[in-house]
Amino acid sequence: MTDVHAEAVRRALSAPLKFAYWVPNVSGGLVVSKIEQRTDWSYEYNKTLAQLAENNGFEYALSQVRYISSYGAAYQHESTSFSLALLLATERLKVIAAVHPGLWQPGVLAKWLATADHLSGGRAAVNVVSGWFKDEFTKLGEPWLEHGERYRRSEEFIRYLKEIWTSDHAELNGDFYRLHDFDLKPKPLASEGRPHPEVFQGGNSTDARGMAGRVSDWYFSNGNSLEGIAEQVTDVSEVAHVHGRTVRFGLNGFLVARDTESEARDVLREIIDKADRQAVEGFGAAVKQAGQATGDGKGMWQDSEFSDLVQYNDGFRTGLIGTPEQVAERIVAYKKQGVNLLLLGFLHYHEDVAYFGEKILPLVRELEAAELEKVG
Ligand SMILES: Cc1cc2nc3c(=O)[nH]c(=O)nc-3n(C[C@H](O)[C@H](O)[C@H](O)COP(=O)(O)O)c2cc1C
Repeated sequence: MTDVHAEAVRRALSAPLKFAYWVPNVSGGLVVSKIEQRTDWSYEYNKTLAQLAENNGFEYALSQVRYISSYGAAYQHESTSFSLALLLATERLKVIAAVHPGLWQPGVLAKWLATADHLSGGRAAVNVVSGWFKDEFTKLGEPWLEHGERYRRSEEFIRYLKEIWTSDHAELNGDFYRLHDFDLKPKPLASEGRPHPEVFQGGNSTDARGMAGRVSDWYFSNGNSLEGIAEQVTDVSEVAHVHGRTVRFGLNGFLVARDTESEARDVLREIIDKADRQAVEGFGAAVKQAGQATGDGKGMWQDSEFSDLVQYNDGFRTGLIGTPEQVAERIVAYKKQGVNLLLLGFLHYHEDVAYFGEKILPLVRELEAAELEKVG
């Protein structure tokens, strides 16, 4: 373990692990499968879910951004408006809205976030996604930049968001965006340890890792093994270290916990057996094509297999399948690699989130306390 990785692990171990859930704001749930899912993409379902989640240990919710149907999500609610609705329906939950820099101007988004922050008492956040879905851009009439350029644009976007949130005279002359003597009023709410709304990012390629190290507050990883996440924590932390920064890490995982391991494994098998094969294969082809420009094969989905892609962010690879005890142990094993937050998806959200809060979270907290005692 390198020194910077060890430091990231130390930081992760010093605080309780945080939990986020994927907001099911697109139809079809979080798995591309014809298995029965008692998850619904409607606002009413999501409002109850958000309230349930904040009472069952979830600090964050992450909404998805999709503008058109894509391999199994025929209907999609827009991420920023949906996020605001969830903020207003809850008291403590922080809601992270996913946005594409290619489709927003930083000044306009900075303004949206400042208002959302005031309306929610400082709980608004953003997930900057650089995009994998070419059709979405071309159908909206926007150019589809190549991979490295998408990230160069995202990095400029994040720098500018932060500049606009903290400066009274933002003067920006970038390659992608310009602003002249722009004074955002009101600024978003600042508090101890949170000078402005938190900026998360999705994407795991070398470009994404560099950008996270230089400008993002949080780095989200697709589902991955312990070794896979350790490699990303190390890479990103090394860049951050050079820039005198620290970045926190969120890991995606699809969680199936049942009272016995065999029940949980049967659920996973059924999800994969009933996969919507055509949709999964179409998605696999699109995402591999999107990352091809990276050359080094490190981007999201570059080594995903059919069964991985049934959960479209490789959530099964994290292996959160089993009894509450098994899942809790696995969760804490990730924390010991430097993970600060787990981003979870479920099959039947309402039931599974309540089960998580009742059966898994207390075990996680016990294991964390034992770990803390070990390191003194
Ligand atoms: C946790 C997470 C959430 C993401 N959410 C979205 C999303 O809502 N919409 C979207 O188009 N892409 C989303 N992405 C994918 C990003 O667009 C990403 O930049 C793209 O897949 C390229 O990844 P790469 O850098 O690994 O090649 C997400 C990625 C992660 C890890």
